[in-house]
Amino acid sequence: MRPGCLILTVTKGSEIPLRTIDWNDEFETISMIDQTLLPAEVRTIECDNIGFLCEAILSLRIRGAPALGAAGGFGVALAAIKSRADSMEALLDDLRKVGDIIRSTRPTAVNLAWGVDRVLDAARDAYDTDGIRRIVLQEAKAIADEDVKLNKRLGAHGGELLHDGDTVLTHCNAGRMACVDWGTALGVVRSAVEAGKEIKVIACETRPLNQGGRITTWELVEDKIPVTLITDSMSGHVMRRQMVDCVIVGADRITQDAVFNKIGTYTHSLVAKEHNVPFYVAAPVSTFDFERMEDEVEIELRDGGELRFMAGKQIAPLDVEVYNPAFDATPMENVTAIITENGVFRPPFLLDEVKYKM
Ligand code: MRU
Repeated sequence: MRPGCLILTVTKGSEIPLRTIDWNDEFETISMIDQTLLPAEVRTIECDNIGFLCEAILSLRIRGAPALGAAGGFGVALAAIKSRADSMEALLDDLRKVGDIIRSTRPTAVNLAWGVDRVLDAARDAYDTDGIRRIVLQEAKAIADEDVKLNKRLGAHGGELLHDGDTVLTHCNAGRMACVDWGTALGVVRSAVEAGKEIKVIACETRPLNQGGRITTWELVEDKIPVTLITDSMSGHVMRRQMVDCVIVGADRITQDAVFNKIGTYTHSLVAKEHNVPFYVAAPVSTFDFERMEDEVEIELRDGGELRFMAGKQIAPLDVEVYNPAFDATPMENVTAIITENGVFRPPFLLDEVKYKM
């Protein structure tokens, strides 16, 4: 499949698209903000084939667990519209194959597979090929719409944990760019600010791809929420100096025994525990994978070039061996509470409660 796309450029300072990712009814494409260009440029790209969607996911043009859930769903919808299959069986077979390809792009972030599977399951209700095409698009749009609503609910629950004047340390980007809108960890901050509290954020840079430095700070500056950027290695120092009231991070997958999130999260959890700083995880129920344990989850390994180069400049010997896992696992004993759309949960984290308690 050859990558192809239509590109629309939105220059900085003009209106930023309302959603990080959405379906474009006019072009029948997946519309997404290219996050690799942030914060220098806000550009929307229109993705018109699965090859390009996979490239966009792999290169983190679209990223963050909930946004990947929407990308998975829209990917199946795009495949349904592009497929020339003229029988239900052939079309469903095409969609299952595309689903496998999309799922394999980022194995740790469970929402990607969840989005694909949810839309594939919905297709089973159809009676003909047109029905499949209609239903999968409807379901993908529902995932995106729900994401915004769930994040607002999650934010309202989490916002109650924050006090006026608090400083929150966060890692990576679990903001509106990681979701369809609003965000999870940053959604909690946004909800607290909306409720009239003064909240400051310390954003860890998040090497090697700097999602914290590039995206979290950009989102907060846009929203006029005070934010200070630090390197990842400074979290020990700022917590020892009592500059942090709590840590809030997002999650890519929550198993029975651990929270998978951007590499570096585990280290912050250890520092937080040592200094009695509450460590909160903000994630929708769709990020839970309670059927698995930590050692059953594949951690995505990324290219060594991400450490040998920075912004195109060589910063390490070309032939140095590199270990570049995208995520780490934080054991549940380091987690103070998990904030979901259904409420705030403290240990022991029981799936039935998390899923159904309101
Ligand atoms: O590699 P990324 O940028 O997709 O990693 C993103 C994260 O680790 C986020 O913290 C996580 O997806 C939660 S987003 C609400």
